[in-house]
Amino acid sequence: MSIFRVKPIEALMSETAGGEYSLKRVLGAGDLIMLAIGAVIGAGIFGSIGSAAAGQIGPNGEVIRLGAGPALIISFILLGACCALAGLCYAELASMIPQAGSAYAYSYATLGEFIAWIIGWDLILEYAVGNVAVAISWGDYLKSFLSGWLELPAWLTTGYRTALLSSDPAVHGLIASAPHLGPIPILINVPAFGIVAFITWLLLRGAKESTRVNNVMVAIKLVVLTIFIIGGLTHINAANYTPFAPNGLTGIGNGAAIVFFAYIGFDAISTAAEETKNPQRNLPIGIMGGLAICTVIYIVIGAVLTGMVPAADLGKTADPLAYALNATGMQWLAKIVALGAIVSMSAVLLVFQYGQPRIFFAMGRDGLLPKWTAKVDRKHRIPYTATLLTGIFVAGWSLIGDAAETYDLTNIGTLFAFILVCIGVIVLRHRDPSRVRPFRVPFVHVVGTAGAALCLYLMYNLPRLAWERFGWWLLIGLVIYIFYGYRSSKLQRAK
Ligand code: ALA
Repeated sequence: MSIFRVKPIEALMSETAGGEYSLKRVLGAGDLIMLAIGAVIGAGIFGSIGSAAAGQIGPNGEVIRLGAGPALIISFILLGACCALAGLCYAELASMIPQAGSAYAYSYATLGEFIAWIIGWDLILEYAVGNVAVAISWGDYLKSFLSGWLELPAWLTTGYRTALLSSDPAVHGLIASAPHLGPIPILINVPAFGIVAFITWLLLRGAKESTRVNNVMVAIKLVVLTIFIIGGLTHINAANYTPFAPNGLTGIGNGAAIVFFAYIGFDAISTAAEETKNPQRNLPIGIMGGLAICTVIYIVIGAVLTGMVPAADLGKTADPLAYALNATGMQWLAKIVALGAIVSMSAVLLVFQYGQPRIFFAMGRDGLLPKWTAKVDRKHRIPYTATLLTGIFVAGWSLIGDAAETYDLTNIGTLFAFILVCIGVIVLRHRDPSRVRPFRVPFVHVVGTAGAALCLYLMYNLPRLAWERFGWWLLIGLVIYIFYGYRSSKLQRAK
């Protein structure tokens, strides 16, 4: 059936060899590890860790998820294992098919056009929607950093969705107290909007300049997290570690499912494959190296944070790390960490605003999206229309969106893409066994199957609403594919 037509790998490779629709190879292994850390350490560890430890209650008192408590470190170990398995599969495919577009490009060559479209569509949840959550969390830490010096009016720093969904009467009350435009309350998140606009401007100036900025931000985030760990270690109260797992395995699973957000991004560097020098060697190093460093840091942060304050308290705040430092009397350190969080999340925003346009670019080049999404700027050789489109989409949603609501949607979409990559690597071993694989997953059947199973388990632990929204998202994608992509696909027209 033609919806399962696959793009020959040779075609993928020759597209990248030069010409109007190709990108410039400038990134090395070190740049990739820095890009991975840049993408990974952000809102997940600075923001979503609070709900993962404490659980979450909805505006009407309903339980949305159970908290892991101090057993959060087990959630992190579980996630590290899951991402390592998926990461190995990503590395094999990314090194075989070093082209822009991440899991989208790989699946086009392995599972066929229809599945590739679904993944490309699904990756919008990971990159663009994920960045909405990061931008909003960035705004929360900016508020936390400025507090005491400069108080911005709440109606300019709170999105409408956040006020609507909050169980905190002071935040929910903003709907009534904010200035109104006729019947519509003006509740907008100007800082979140502003940072996305700034990052988009930076990216439009070219990829290499942007990775240099990223390297500086990564160095700062590692220093700040070390400061948090050292400060926190001096204020551990052993009593906070009991009960260790207040909600048992369910809490550990529910917690892992939301704080999975903290791991998203190590795969994002595969979207830079086409701009990487010697991708066969550098991509696996970048992916696995970045993942290993982040997993160790998270386990330590989880252990320190849940030792500083009772886990249940961490759900009350949008800036849990700064909260824990304040609660243990380290106000100055809280300011430094808030500043570090702002820098860290800027780096995350940068990598995802960088990755998403490259997926649009790859899909546009294949004819699954309109051709203008694959336009490359002549001077900088970057996909500039797609970069601009991503900026407008993310900045617009950040203005009125809610962070918590977008974590779950991002996670479910990303986990689904991981599952397809884990399966894809096994399928390709059977379908195309003789192709050169510069990086081979050891015990591929065990690794791929276990990776897919763990991802499915995490998806199962997400709230029902996330499943419903994910279903709708896939349905909309299906309609677009049937009425647009299927007909205008380059493979279809080449027949
Ligand atoms: N892992 C990234 C973050 O936590 C998306 O911000």
